[in-house]
Order: sequence, then C-alpha cells, then structure tokens
Amino acid sequence: MAAISASKWVHLIYTSLILLLLCIQLTECIVTYDKKSLIINGHRRILLSGSIHYPRSTPEMWEDLIQKAKDGGLDVIDTYVFWNGHEPSPGNYNFEGRYDLVRFVKLVQKAGMYMHLRIGPFVCAEWNFGGFPVWLKYVPGISFRTDNEPFKMAMQKFTTKIVLMMKYEKLFESQGGPIILSQIENEYGADTQAYGAAGHAYLTWAAKMAVGLNTGVPWVMCKQDDAPDPIINTCNGFYCDYFTPNNKETKPTMWTEAWSGWFSDFGGPLPHRPVQDLAFAVARFIQKGGSFTNYYMYHGGTNFGRTAGGPFITTSYDYDAPIDEYGLLRQPKYDHLKWLHRAIKLSEKAIVSADPTFISLGSYEQAHVFSSKAGGCAAFLANYHINSSTTVRFRNKRYDLPPWSISILPDCKTVAFNTAQVGKTSLVNWLPTNVNRLAWQTFSEDVSTIDSESKMTESGLLDQLSVTRDASDYLWYSTSVVINPSELHRGVVPTLTVQSEGHVLHVFVNGQLAGSAYGNQDNRKVTFNGNANLRAGMNKIQLLSVAVGLQNNGPRFEQWKTGVFGPVVLHGVGHVSRDISHQKWSYQVGLKGESKNIALPIGVSSVDWTESSLSGHVNRPLTWYKAYFNAPQGVEPLAIDMKSMGKGQVWINGQSIGRYWTVHAKGSCTPCNYAGTYRPAKCQTRCGKPTQRWYHVPRSWVNPTRNLIVVFEEIGGDASLISIERRSFR
Ligand code: GAL
Repeated sequence: MAAISASKWVHLIYTSLILLLLCIQLTECIVTYDKKSLIINGHRRILLSGSIHYPRSTPEMWEDLIQKAKDGGLDVIDTYVFWNGHEPSPGNYNFEGRYDLVRFVKLVQKAGMYMHLRIGPFVCAEWNFGGFPVWLKYVPGISFRTDNEPFKMAMQKFTTKIVLMMKYEKLFESQGGPIILSQIENEYGADTQAYGAAGHAYLTWAAKMAVGLNTGVPWVMCKQDDAPDPIINTCNGFYCDYFTPNNKETKPTMWTEAWSGWFSDFGGPLPHRPVQDLAFAVARFIQKGGSFTNYYMYHGGTNFGRTAGGPFITTSYDYDAPIDEYGLLRQPKYDHLKWLHRAIKLSEKAIVSADPTFISLGSYEQAHVFSSKAGGCAAFLANYHINSSTTVRFRNKRYDLPPWSISILPDCKTVAFNTAQVGKTSLVNWLPTNVNRLAWQTFSEDVSTIDSESKMTESGLLDQLSVTRDASDYLWYSTSVVINPSELHRGVVPTLTVQSEGHVLHVFVNGQLAGSAYGNQDNRKVTFNGNANLRAGMNKIQLLSVAVGLQNNGPRFEQWKTGVFGPVVLHGVGHVSRDISHQKWSYQVGLKGESKNIALPIGVSSVDWTESSLSGHVNRPLTWYKAYFNAPQGVEPLAIDMKSMGKGQVWINGQSIGRYWTVHAKGSCTPCNYAGTYRPAKCQTRCGKPTQRWYHVPRSWVNPTRNLIVVFEEIGGDASLISIERRSFR
C-alpha cells in the first residue's frame, strides 16, 4: 500500500471533521431509536433485514446475493463476525478471501443497503466452537463467557479490533457508512442462570465495554431480557409477536432472528418452513408494533472446510432460506416474502406514525389499525383459525381470510397482500455434466506405521481437543496388548469394548478395520463393541477418533469432551475382563495425507499414487482418491454428488468443499400443512435418504481445465460413481 503523505492526512482529518459537524447539525448520519423504531437520519423506519454470513459463500457470490436480497425488498444485511476465521492463531489475523469482512460490508454499502454487524464474538450459528478460536480455550486460567479476566481481555481485544477496523474504513452510519446496528454477545440470557452472579457481572461488563467503543450506532443483545440501557434487547424465534423490550417507553421492538427454516444435521431429515407461516409470523410481529425483522437465514450457504459446528451439522447450511445454498431463488418463498415486504413498505408511514389499535372481529379474527393524521391509515386483518377460512367486516367492507393468515391493507381499504396466498413454485433440479467416471488414482493411509511414527506417548486416554487443538478432525490412539496362548479359550471369541465421548470412532485391530461407531445429534457418545480379531502374541489396537464439528453452544461448552475417554476393555481373554485404558497410549494427530498436504496442488505429488482400476478399491477404508477434470460448461452452480461414498472430506484445487457423510435420515416426513404453530420437526423431507448427497463446488474455485479433486474416504465407498452436477431451474 502506498504511504499517505502528511498533507493527505491533514485533508482526510479535515474532511472527516466537516462531515461529522454536518452530520450533527443536520441530524444526519445518526442512528438513534425510540419506542417505535430505529431512527436513521431523523426518520423512523420499519426495517426488513436478512442474514447472509460472508464465509458461507465466496466473495464472487456476494454481490449477487446482496442484490437479490435488495430485490427481495430487504433494507439491511445482517452477519455475524467469525472470530476463529479471523484469528486462526493468537495475534495472527486473516481478513482475506471469504473472510474479507470490509469488502463484504462495502458491497452492502454499494448496493445502497444497511448492515447489522453482530460481532458477538460468541455467535453460536452452528459454527465450529460457536465462533471462538480453539486456542482461546488454552489461554491459562480462561473460562468462556463469564466474569473471567483472561476471557474478557481477549473478547475486548477482538471486539475493539473489529470496531476500529470498521471505523477506519468509515463504515458506521455515524461516519456515513452502512452499519446502523451492532450486536454484542448472543443469546446469553438462556445461559445467565448457569453462570450465576459471575454471569450477571459479565453481561454488565460486556454491555459497558461495547457502548464504550463509541460506534455512534445502537447496540443490541438478543434474547437478553435484562440487557442494560442503552442496549436494546431483541427477540429470536419462529414467532416474536409476544415480545416486548425491557423498556416499552424507550426501546423499539426488534426481531433479530426470524427463523426462515432450520439447520440440518447428518442423520436427520431436512426441515422446511412453509412461507405462508413465515409471512404470517412476520405480519403478526409488525401488526403488534414490531419495527425490525431479520430473516435468519436469508441465504444460509455452505459450511466449507471444517467450519461446521454442532457437532454433526451438515456441510450444507441451506436453512430452507429464500435464497438457496447455491445462490438461486427459492420459490415461492422468495417472491412471497418480496410481496409481503412491498405491502409492509406501503404501510410504513402509517405504522411509524401511530401505535396500533386492536379490534376484535370474532373469536379468531382480529384487526390491528395504525391510523393518524400524519401517517394515514394501514390495517392488518388476521384469522388465527388453523383450518377454517372466514369473512370479516371491517369499516363496512367484507374481507375473506384463509386460515392462519393476515391481510395487509396499506390504505385501510384495499388488500395488498395475504400471507396464505402464494404464487407459483419453480423447481430446481440437478442436471448431469461431463464430469463423471473420472480417472482416479489412490493412496492408502498406512495404519501399520502410525504408532511407530507417533511423537507422543502418555499413560491413559487424553481429551482429543487437548491433543489436536483442532488442527485435524482425526486423532489416532494406539496401544498394544500381549496375549498369552493360555489366555485364549476354545470356543470363545475375544471382543473389545471402546467408549468414546464422540463423535465417530473407527477401531483397527492388527491393521484391520474391526468396526466403527457413530454418534448423532441425539447422542454424541459412541460405544464400539465387537469381535476384535485378537490373537496370541502381540496385538496392535489403533483407535481413530473423528470429530465432526465442535460444540457451538450451551453453558461452558468449551469444557465438553471429545475423543476416547474409555474404558477400553478386552473381554474373553484370560479369566476377567482386561481394562487397558490406563496403560501407555501413543498419539498421532491427523492423517499422513494431511501432514503431506496431498489434498493441495503443492503437496499432491509428495506421495506415490496408485493408478487404479478402482474395482480393487471399492469399500476400502482410509483411502485417498485423486483425479483431474475440466470445468463443466455453462454458468449454473455446481455440486459434487457423493452418494456412492461413505464418510470423509473432499477438496477441489486445494479448497475444502467440506465434510461429507452419506448417512440416511431418520425421522418423520409426513405431509405438512402450513397452518398452525411451526416447529422444525413439523415439515421435513429426505427421510430414509442421505441427509446430504450434493456438496457445493463454487464456480470460482474451478479452472477451465485440469482441476484437481481429492477425496479422503474413511469407511469405504465407490469413487467410480462420483460426478459433478449442475443446479438449474426446470
Ligand atoms: C439461535 C442462535 C443462532 C443459531 C440459531 C439456530 O438461537 O442465536 O446463532 O444458532 O439459533 O440456527
């Protein structure tokens, strides 16, 4: 970067001062609030917002996503800030590529939209470790999200860094930028009790620290009934019409997470939220006086690499959002909300000028009317019945209302929108490309040398994270046992039991895969119990423990355990069971292929790949596959179809597409009616099918020719059936 001359600095400071003075005089560039709404540049606003998390798509996709959000009738883009992506090791910052936060905020500004920056830095978000860097757990004396000096110091340092960065780029509205709002912490309210008085002290400190950063725009705390003034407490949920802030006379009613769908986990079905119900929920909120609604998510995107938290959260973070994982419009969700937004905007003047008057029109029927001289009149007519439509009389006119619906009348006469009347569906489809039947080469992880190469030996079993520090999903626990021939009994097959805190376990005995055990969303702990193939003499026992995303929420979640804690017990050897948990174990972090970077173009040649006819490699565990392909023609989004594979990770040109896992969804997928209170289990698909089969390959990661694809398969699959497909409208 060219150095800025002294005279330029003077000019810069001078113009900033003039701008600030102008702002103050004209009450422009100022965001304040009152009981009705946020007030931007002196105007009360009804704001519609949508969450788009920048690292969950690529910079090449951002502009299009933001424009689609604007065209969908949104005013604001909301994002969390992802600490662990920005500070991978202490003091070593990353604001490049998918983590180029400034670029993202500037694109929002370029589109003429506002920004809500949810700094957290705890974010939850189904993101690895809730957004915290794993190194933070190993700062001496630290305890997360409570009145703990090392934690508070680190949180303040990162929050300040982000605020200063935004200030330097003049991105707060108070400086003429797009950021109108910021969030500190995230849903701490639910956890405060678990932390007691220290939690309360922490919360008060966090509020003061944030306000002290003088951003010139308001701060919010979501799901925090006791948020201290001037911080606005906001609502998150499927419905928020019941919600009022902790000071009705001074604070506006804001909904920071209107859940547009829900996330998915490997082994579970895909949740869908009917748009009629989502629109109904938003209209219910606005008719009660709500003035800010943010869709969580408006575009969910992809948990690339190992960014998914959970554990067990899928690589897809599609969320059934109005813009799908691939950046395509999800219909009729997108258009229906767009019409809802239009009707709300037509009513904006009336809504911000008056408090709603409630009129009962029957047992299930209601009207909410905003009427004033200054703002005119807007009305919301509601039918809460879940299966009967009705006709109501309002101001001497009759209005038909479908079940569980609200009509919006921006002039108190004409219906501009009804939440239950949706337009046409347009289906997207997967179409083939010429990328199939690739010429694969293979490389096998050599299990036999793992313990001899290990640099760490300890008595007993260690927590996985304390050893890997999350440098890899994989940790080998290796030991050996000597069995005297006299300890083996005729007719008795020795077995092995291994208990693990999660998330997935592959057990190797004498170099052979003896079996695997898998956790899931309901039970992360796993137990392997199987025929161990033990023989007289020396036996090698090697346990490959696999993490599937670190815990992202809950009180003291940083203390949750991962990996093999035991007991590890041999049965049917000698006269009693033999507990080998406390003997010497050697530890090896990660796979050979990982240490040699063979998924990356720079490391791919560091091992000898075997030309393979694949037939010999079907269902072989711990196998790497590599091939090259030319870009599929066209511009449609791409995905890799992994249905024939088991579990592992996939990279294209060194970029990690994420974890894949072909596990079939258990659950109930009965037809679902939009009417009635929504819960994620109400409307689901893919029962009995793999939860996730397609994995997003961003177009910008693909070169015209000779793209390197590398797959690491843990359990065994058939790579010959891997293909790349196009996502396209039918
Ligand atoms: C909320 C949380 C979000 C996200 C959401 C579920 O409670 O604030 O970060 O985790 O749940 O998708």
